[in-house]
Amino acid sequence: MIRTRFSGHKGKGVHARNPPSAASTERRPWTTLGAMADESRPHDLILFGATGFTGGLTAEYLARHAPPGCRWALAGRDPGRLADVRDRLAAVRREWGDLPLLAADATDPASLHRLAGQTRVVATTVGPYLRYGEPLVAACAAAGTDYADLAGEPEFVDRVYLRHHERARATGARLVHACGFDCTPFDLGVRFTVEQLPEDVPLRVDGFLRAAGRISGGTLASALGAVSRPLPAARAARARRGAEPPVPGRRVRAPLGAPVRSGALRTWGLPIPTLESRVVARSAAALPRYGPDFRYRHYAAVRRLPVAAGTVLGAGAFAAAAQVPPLRRLMASRLAPGTGPSEERRARSWFSARFVGTAPDRRVLTEVSGGDPAYDETAKILAEAALCLAHDPLPETSGQVTTAQAMGGALTERLVAAGMGFRVRSTSALPGSP
Ligand SMILES: NC(=O)c1ccc[n+]([C@@H]2O[C@H](COP(=O)([O-])OP(=O)(O)OC[C@H]3O[C@@H](n4cnc5c(N)ncnc54)[C@H](OP(=O)(O)O)[C@@H]3O)[C@@H](O)[C@H]2O)c1
Repeated sequence: MIRTRFSGHKGKGVHARNPPSAASTERRPWTTLGAMADESRPHDLILFGATGFTGGLTAEYLARHAPPGCRWALAGRDPGRLADVRDRLAAVRREWGDLPLLAADATDPASLHRLAGQTRVVATTVGPYLRYGEPLVAACAAAGTDYADLAGEPEFVDRVYLRHHERARATGARLVHACGFDCTPFDLGVRFTVEQLPEDVPLRVDGFLRAAGRISGGTLASALGAVSRPLPAARAARARRGAEPPVPGRRVRAPLGAPVRSGALRTWGLPIPTLESRVVARSAAALPRYGPDFRYRHYAAVRRLPVAAGTVLGAGAFAAAAQVPPLRRLMASRLAPGTGPSEERRARSWFSARFVGTAPDRRVLTEVSGGDPAYDETAKILAEAALCLAHDPLPETSGQVTTAQAMGGALTERLVAAGMGFRVRSTSALPGSP
């Protein structure tokens, strides 16, 4: 059973943010975007990057699950390749043979401004985001257009906060990063765990990730790009800490911590310095339901110590090699852009995110689980997040926001309906509690 009520979330009417205009929705085989008035929004949702590996899977997911009447479109830089994607989608549902195709290039800000002005929501898989992402964010922030991406690069997210958060707050745009396996199962999983615990008391949540799967060329390029820039990333994080307002009257922490042994899960936890813990902390800062004193720690779960040692050494070697440009290029060349694991390989992939949530009087064990984390589930999450932003009543938010903050219960409901597991595994009273 899943409980989804959450204090502080108030419903908002569909279309309240960017009301659809009466602009033409005429379907054309290929549309080079012309300049349009900001309020002219012929589309509910545009998928940018549909020709890529993850973008293609996201397009196929939308082709199967977009509700009737959803006015969506594909965007990218190559009309021929976009038309090929549309042909695939027409085989899923014939009506998608008329899907509009929109020309935009991540390196051409004018084309991105025209794109953002045409729609209420943009979902983008054009990465690495550190290389390609910012002009589209800028366009969406300026146009008051909701934006969802798959960025797992902390430096990119911090830069967006520093440069575009205030503008997006002014226009009402919601900028939601990491709407994929990074970081949504953890952000929503922690929110779900908090919901099972009492209100107005200190809460501790530890998240433990186990997963099996392969990565794509785009993911490898993004990971190499992110770990090769430790100093700029640290500078952006520091600048952000200086710019962010404190959380009034509450304490929120997400320390990296040391390796731990979890008795409850009978596993070792290796701290992982990825974006998840920062996103969870931002959700906790935004949502008073996380209590007066909240702490999250994020771990990779490893059953045996030798495996743990191997994992640490492997991650260290990857990060060290990424600092050396020829080695970085060599590693990047192992997986070409546009390629990724086969359908058969993805069918054997899985993930489990387990959470140990502790309040003064009780402990709860929860789990979020699903199939191929990096691509099938990521495509599902991005597509459902975009549909959620476009069609669901949501809390009133704007600026850079997390999935839990912007879409919490509604997106959780969508993912559960789409087959992702959100479960309470056990609840127990703690010794000494009444
Ligand atoms: N968070 C997660 O869990 C998660 C999971 C999967 C992927 N990702 C991220 O998603 C991103 C995409 O990964 P992927 O494997 O799908 O990569 P990919 O297959 O290489 O796709 C990249 C896409 O970007 C497009 N693109 C590149 N340069 C462009 C430009 N200048 N203008 C417009 N479009 C451009 C490509 O278009 P063309 O076809 O025209 O080249 C392609 O559609 C990466 O950043 C990856 O890290 C994150």
